[in-house]
Amino acid sequence: MTWLVTGGAGYIGSHVVRSLIDAGQGVVVLDDLSTGDADRVPSSVPLVQGSVLDGAGVRAALRGSAVTGVVHLAAKKSVAESVAQPLHYHRENVVGTLTLLDAMAAEGVSRLVFSSSAAVYGSPDDDSVGEDAPARPQSPYGRTKLMSEWMVEDAAEALGLATVCLRYFNVVGCADPELADTGGTNLFPLVFRALAAGERPVVFGDDYPTRDGTCVRDYIHVQDLAEAHVAAARLLDTSGPRHEVVNIGCGRGYTVREVLTTIGRVTGRDTTPAILPRRPGDPAGMVADASLARRLLGWTAQRDLTAMVESAWDGAQRSAPWSRVPTVRTDDVHEWGLLT
Ligand code: WQD
Repeated sequence: MTWLVTGGAGYIGSHVVRSLIDAGQGVVVLDDLSTGDADRVPSSVPLVQGSVLDGAGVRAALRGSAVTGVVHLAAKKSVAESVAQPLHYHRENVVGTLTLLDAMAAEGVSRLVFSSSAAVYGSPDDDSVGEDAPARPQSPYGRTKLMSEWMVEDAAEALGLATVCLRYFNVVGCADPELADTGGTNLFPLVFRALAAGERPVVFGDDYPTRDGTCVRDYIHVQDLAEAHVAAARLLDTSGPRHEVVNIGCGRGYTVREVLTTIGRVTGRDTTPAILPRRPGDPAGMVADASLARRLLGWTAQRDLTAMVESAWDGAQRSAPWSRVPTVRTDDVHEWGLLT
């Protein structure tokens, strides 16, 4: 099998590429390098620089490498940015997925692993979220992921594709410091940035109905996430037409305070936080019911929070995100409670 990994030069994509190679799969990368880095792509892997919005270019990439399946990761993924630029997000994420599906149909490529997100759930009614939970996305980002899932499902039905949509929970850590997340807008990098600047990390609200008042999230090591993609690819290798939607999380949640405690233990730094008002749109709890991933994919997460923090800290120290991660200033907390 040869898989075209769109977004394969990105943080998650570069981990997926390595795991597919380690599993003996053929890989080609399509990436426009707008946020990805060509140095993240192994020299043995063909890299096609281009956008999924270029249908002719995608068809040429599929045809040129005798691709038999696609792992579609190329997308914009910032909740805050999606609020400021919704049409840009719909174009990149929704039109991009549509263009890819058109190209796959034209070239007879029938297997797709799609990168979706727990953001499709919005604020769930229950802390443990199953795939049958109502999808009520609260951001343009989450809506682009849900709309893309619907397109994938319709295409699978009409064209006889074999597809799996993976709903990522909170992805952190890195397999190698060189592959660290340099995006810097989520909890881990923002805390590391505050520590590096000698500032206190901030906590957005400590009055939630949780065990310590701070929000609960299902953090998952990016290497476990990458291995879930290999499991999904293996399922599709031997499968006829189907459409699956699968949560990819650990199935257990940690509060923000528990994350800060772990970061303090790993780094030896004082992570006593400054408490800020709640961030609008933050659900109190979001933890995966990961039982379907275990049943269908034979996959469960293997790495614990300490391993996540240790790898993320190593990566934060060795890569150069500090120049890109926003300084945490309370006056920057905008209506979405997100930093500029
Ligand atoms: C986690 C918790 C914050 C920073 C994101 C996005 C999206 C999706 C899933 C891919 C929240 C709190 C944060 C800080 C804090 N990824 N926090 N202080 O919002 O759960 O979801 O990841 O699809 O990227 O939806 O992640 O890391 O921003 O926040 O207290 O300085 O940490 O309030 O409770 P989130 P996050």
